[in-house]
Amino acid sequence: MRIQLVTKPSLDPRTSYKVTPIFEGENLDTTDKLTQSFLKENPKFGKNLESQLIYSGDQKVLLLGIGKREKLDFSTLEHWVGTAIKSLLKKTKEAVLYIPRTDKLSSYQVGQAIALGVEIASADFAKDYKSEKDPVKLTNIEVVVERAENGFLSGLKIGQVIAEGINLARKLSDMPPNEMTPTYFLNTAKKIARESKLKLTSLDEKQAKKKGMGAFVGVAQGSEEPSYMITLEYKGDLRTKDKWAFVGKGITFDSGGLSLKPPQHMTDMKYDMCGAAAVLATMQIIAKLKLKVNVVGIMAVTENLIGGKAQRPGDIVKTYSGKTAEVLNTDAEGRLVLVDALTYAQKDFKATKLVDLATLTGGMIVALGDFYTGVFGNNPKFTQEFISTGSQLGEKYWEMPMDEVYNEMIKSDFADIRNMGKGGSIPSAASSIVGAKFIESVVENNRPWIHLDIAGTAWDLKSKPYGGVGATGIGVRTLVGLLLV
Ligand code: BES
Ligand code: ZN
Ligand code: ZN
Repeated sequence: MRIQLVTKPSLDPRTSYKVTPIFEGENLDTTDKLTQSFLKENPKFGKNLESQLIYSGDQKVLLLGIGKREKLDFSTLEHWVGTAIKSLLKKTKEAVLYIPRTDKLSSYQVGQAIALGVEIASADFAKDYKSEKDPVKLTNIEVVVERAENGFLSGLKIGQVIAEGINLARKLSDMPPNEMTPTYFLNTAKKIARESKLKLTSLDEKQAKKKGMGAFVGVAQGSEEPSYMITLEYKGDLRTKDKWAFVGKGITFDSGGLSLKPPQHMTDMKYDMCGAAAVLATMQIIAKLKLKVNVVGIMAVTENLIGGKAQRPGDIVKTYSGKTAEVLNTDAEGRLVLVDALTYAQKDFKATKLVDLATLTGGMIVALGDFYTGVFGNNPKFTQEFISTGSQLGEKYWEMPMDEVYNEMIKSDFADIRNMGKGGSIPSAASSIVGAKFIESVVENNRPWIHLDIAGTAWDLKSKPYGGVGATGIGVRTLVGLLLV
């Protein structure tokens, strides 16, 4: 999308739509007669995302409420922009967007929120496989701000790069699992590595087995499709040994394995690779923005299927960390692939700070719905820094308890750890924490680590006014945000 920042609009009002923000309970000091008379008759207009189209003569105005002035934050602005764009996408080629004046956000934040709102709203991958296309008309947007400030432009530019990454993650995640196979994922990662000058390595099942990644291979062995442990390396700061690892669960389809899911729980399981998609997108953005950091992205990509070669409940596998794990439920496969990926990050890549993202547990949705992402960590300062970075960028995170009392729940009678909690009469008790504990058990020397359980937030359960159905690209902006400061 072409986005022009201006202080005075230049688009022809006869061919473009104009979008005006209305704060709730405020009389707009506008010279625009149409808006004035509408607001006179509708003094209560202005609730968040309340909208009204007005046509008069040559003019086409979309009045869009933005709620109470004191409540305006990054998300409100992004969603306001997104909603405006979404409602005009198929109506017009050109639009003029008046940005509300606010002292709640810096011009940099305003620029970023605009870019994210425009780009995310204008990409809708849910329609990619429909035979009848309903083409998007909008190509040109003028964004009217009050003063020309550098912050607007830099925020806009960085925001566009981030949004492009988020859209990549959304697109890959929305794809059907018969097309979005581990091989397809690998080929996409190769393309990005070539374009962005990232170093890619991939281990196939045979290589992973030879290396000792028994937990990853145990999951992968049930599928006819080849599986891959993929890494992308970015070196932006040669002066330091500090290195981030972003690790993603990339189950391109989770049937549950022999602990088969009931049909109603299987229908969304193409999204079980959203963690890996977020990592891939983040690596692309980091390279494009040429950030001064060192990062390795690790994506554990496989299906979790059934078949004669599939692992059985009761199998004991040797993880790459050296610990043995009892697989009591083959549907708790995410933690299995992740422990090997996290050990890989530490052993082979010497990462000093770890973040993993995974659609790990249904229990996360029970706990927080599709609004908050659960955060589990071993370092309160790091966890708080992460949560506050997220909240400034409109991603909601909630810290979950990781007390030692839960360590008991992953102790196995026959191996070092078990992949299912000892919940007694309620087997799923604290299932999200148990999953996190399992992953934590391979974190060496207490190095700072965060696990994000994105099961509830990786895709929208129902269509929302902005964004629509499908994957959200959760996590990407916060990971980039952490590195931008
Ligand atoms: N991929 C699922 C978790 C999931 C469920 C994500 C629903 C998104 C929506 C994961 O592999 C899984 O099946 N977890 C089990 C673990 C249990 C068997 C210990 C779960 O949460 O039920
Ligand atoms: Zn599963
Ligand atoms: Zn899964």
